[in-house]
Order: sequence, then structure tokens, then C-alpha cells
Amino acid sequence: MPDSRFQIDADIRKASTPPSRVYTDPAIYAAGRERIFAGSWQLVGDAEQVRVPGQVHPFTLLEGCLDEALLLTRDDRDGLHCLSNVCTHRGNLVCEHGGVESALRCRYHGRRFGLNGSFVSMPEFDGVENFPSAADNLPRLPLERWGPFLFTSVKPSIPFGDWIGPMRKRIEWYPVDRCKLDATRSRDYLVQANWALYCENYLEGFHIPFVHSGLSDALDYGSYRTELFDHSSVQVGIARGGGDVLSPPSASPDHGKSIAGYYFWLFPNTIFNIYPWGISVNIVKPLGVDRTRVSFLSYVLDSSKLERGAGAELDRVEREDEAIVEAVQKGLRSRLYERGRYSPTRETGTHHFHRMLAEFLA
Ligand code: FES
Ligand SMILES: [Fe+2]
Repeated sequence: MPDSRFQIDADIRKASTPPSRVYTDPAIYAAGRERIFAGSWQLVGDAEQVRVPGQVHPFTLLEGCLDEALLLTRDDRDGLHCLSNVCTHRGNLVCEHGGVESALRCRYHGRRFGLNGSFVSMPEFDGVENFPSAADNLPRLPLERWGPFLFTSVKPSIPFGDWIGPMRKRIEWYPVDRCKLDATRSRDYLVQANWALYCENYLEGFHIPFVHSGLSDALDYGSYRTELFDHSSVQVGIARGGGDVLSPPSASPDHGKSIAGYYFWLFPNTIFNIYPWGISVNIVKPLGVDRTRVSFLSYVLDSSKLERGAGAELDRVEREDEAIVEAVQKGLRSRLYERGRYSPTRETGTHHFHRMLAEFLA
């Protein structure tokens, strides 16, 4: 059994990066799926998916990783619910297609549930003791909201407010409620690398001048900085020269700065890039020890500002990042590499992430 335990010194000047087995060993990947992802908060979509009362939307939470069959519903009192989509009788999937329903009925033996998940009826169960009980309702998961975004967690390891709070507060002036999904600008990327390599690359701007020549022109590298929170971090990109920028109001700690973009990362795999044109959401979805799907969702606020500044050419930047993390994945298989060291000025976000990885995998 490979050891998933490792130490990352709290002092970045003394610390070494995680051992390469963390990114290459299938058993450590599997341990991370349960210890990191099963307790995490995940974006499940937005309220538009269940727009009218009676609407149901089955989906798989983190397909290829958690594979949890869930169901979003809007009941006839306009309440939103996130339910387990697994029938409490013998485990069939209750709802296979989205649509508008007055109730849920399992097609295996006819058990019925309300749209809030409560058990309603079951044929041929007369005389069954202690039935129905609370265990016969569909398990209900927490459903939380920020702007148009809905989040859930199978068994939350931290309170939602602690997780999202620092980002929500930092940009409380940003009109997140007005951002609308543009499916034509959204796409998935398949990356031949471990999910954590994708995140740790995202978490440092150190590589921007080396890897992203185009993006480098839009950002002032000298004033680029990272701030750390308990379960998240933000990189603040200051614009170089003019163009579209975010101008935070006087109550904001960023007042007076020309912000090209805020790059928020929330443990373990949720990314909100906040630009003048809107929000580029990136969900980093593990598929295997060296395979990752990254879903890009574009929530547009002002389409006249698309394709300008640091939020332009996201596809090019993504391909540049993919090429580099895929090369790192190959490098980590070497017998001649084990761990590296950190830049104390440029890799604080990555070090912070690695500390969390070490804590959850221990
Ligand atoms: S599994 Fe659903 S009614 Fe039997
Ligand atoms: Fe990058």
C-alpha cells in the first residue's frame, strides 16, 4: 500500500513540493477521491436548469470521479431541492430524464416520492414493519446558492459559508446575479495530467511570462499578487495600460486599482475568474490519476467587453496551460525526480494548496 502521507513545511522557505507519487500513484488518487472530493462543495449548475415548478433535472456529480447520481427539482411551492436519485427500495435510478413531473415514480417497482424527496407510496408493502420511515425518503443534500450558481456536497467537510465567504465578500459589489450562461462560449478540455497539477499551475502567476506571451501583455507582472484564505485563494491581476478593467468601489480593499481579473480558486477544484466581461468558471474534474476534464463555463455580464484584456483568448491560454501540465505529468514519472522547492515570492498559492493536499491525504 503506497503511503499517501507527506509533509509540506508551513514555512515556504523550508518546504519541498509533494512527492511525485502523489500525482502518479492510482491508490493515492483513489484515496484523494474519498478524502478530498467526497466532502467537497461542488457547482451543480444554475437555477435555470429547473426553472418552473415541477421541473426535474437528473445529473451525475463529478462524473468519472464521485459518480454520485443526484437530482435537482423545483417543487410546486417553488422550493429547490438537491436529492439522491437512488430509489430507497433496491437502488434503481429514480429519474432518468429531465422534464416536468408532479411526482417521482421509480419504474422498477413503482415507489413514489414527492418532488422534495419524501416517500409517498409503495405497492405490495402492507404489513412491512416500521414502514415507511425517514430512511424511505430520498436523501436530501444541502443546496446553496451564490448569484446564479448552485452548489451541493455529499457530506460537507466544511460549512458552505466558510468555503465561499472570502470570495463573496471580496467582490460583493460585482453584479454576479446578472451574469448569464452562454453555452456557445462554454466547452470541455481533456488534459492528460493529474487534477492537482492543473490546480497548482493555475495557482501561480510565476509561469505567465514564460508560458503565456499573449496574457503577459495584458497583466502587470510586478504587481500581480496572491492572497490566501482558509479554504481558497485569490490572485489579483492588475491591468497593464488601459482597456477594460474592474474598478472596485471605495469600500473594497482594491479601490483605486485597475483590476484586469480576479482569479479565485476554492478547494479543491472550483475556479471563478472574474473579468469585466463576466465570469469564466472552470471546474477541474478528475477522471483518473493522469486524466482530467476541465469544464469552462462562460457567464456573460457585458458582451461588448468579450475578447478584450486579460479575459480574452481563454482558449489559447488553456492550450498553453495544458501543454505545460501534460509535460510535467511525464516528468513526474522519472526515477530521477522526487520533489522540488518553492519560490517564496511567486508560489505562495501553490504552497497553500499543497498544504491542504497533505492535510486531507494524511
Ligand atoms: S427499486 Fe425503486 S421501487 Fe424497487
Ligand atoms: Fe497558465
